Amino acid sequence: MPPDTTTNSLHAVPPSGKQGPRPASSAALAHGSAAVRAEIAAGLAARQAEVSPKFLYDALGSRLFEAICELPEYYPTRTEAAIFAAHGEAMARAIGPGSTLIDLGAGHCAKAAKLFTRLQPAQYVAIDISADFLRESIDSLQQRFPAIDMLGLGLDFSSSLDLPASVREERRVFFYPGSSIGNFTPEQACAFLRRARAQCGDDGALLIGIDLVKDSELLDAAYDDAIGVTAAFNLNLLRHLNHLAGADFDVRQWRHRGRFNAAESRIEMHLEARHDLTVTWQGGQRDFDAGERIHTENSYKYRQSAAVGLLEQSGFQAREVWTDPHGWFAVIYAHAIGA
Ligand code: TRP
Repeated sequence: MPPDTTTNSLHAVPPSGKQGPRPASSAALAHGSAAVRAEIAAGLAARQAEVSPKFLYDALGSRLFEAICELPEYYPTRTEAAIFAAHGEAMARAIGPGSTLIDLGAGHCAKAAKLFTRLQPAQYVAIDISADFLRESIDSLQQRFPAIDMLGLGLDFSSSLDLPASVREERRVFFYPGSSIGNFTPEQACAFLRRARAQCGDDGALLIGIDLVKDSELLDAAYDDAIGVTAAFNLNLLRHLNHLAGADFDVRQWRHRGRFNAAESRIEMHLEARHDLTVTWQGGQRDFDAGERIHTENSYKYRQSAAVGLLEQSGFQAREVWTDPHGWFAVIYAHAIGA
């Protein structure tokens, strides 16, 4: 899960006056960097408006995502955890002791930490966007597991993956749980996995969690739950944009949409205008018609064979596939394919 990159202050944006078009110059103070503001403005102005999912995770968004993981409808977190609990021993056997475990998007490092006793890696490398976020987790883990060499790296690995020399070269095992791979398009996912392949030798491997295609009713419920936590999580993005880009989104004018698109094999998350409205941000504005949408995230679901195929295309051969009794989620261990 991406860490907080900003602190959202409820008082940062002065209350806006009447609704309706206003000159762009009257937009509220923007707290994002110039690059962040430009990225947000370009997405909002695009023909199909879009906002990067990374902006979902401000302080409140990160908490709401943790709440999503507790929902009865949101099966991925629970199901993956059950697979690790049931097959951790087999995973440790497949990987063997003495590996270099590289955790992509480590967050609190909790998923990896559960493997340590059985896996006994020689080195644990936790990577996340913010190194600050990792420090505390690494410090307390290091005390519990003094024999493992630990390293925290602040890297945005979604665009490039260059590991420093402090990362051991032997037996690199990339750990990528949580089906975060599903938030890339299949093409992006392949490019990402190839970068991981390029960062390990022929003795490298991958332990990855991938959410599988299932009944669309289950998928729809997981991304649009009954008590509206997912809706709150998605809508909170608009508050965050007000803060970052000096925009004047009125959250009440928008509704959450999360639905499975079977043809594309992905959940599509949008925010939809409830009626005709105008949004202003620092340096721009746009009219949205009732029903018009802002795309916020895709979550691709794979058939098991397609998941194995994606890995193979990216330079990894699946050795073991563990699933839950319903076949909802897969954890795959794959070896680097030799050049
Ligand atoms: N990465 C999560 C997933 O694909 C994020 C997520 C869950 C999400 N529910 C959401 C993103 C709703 C946007 C809106 O499962």
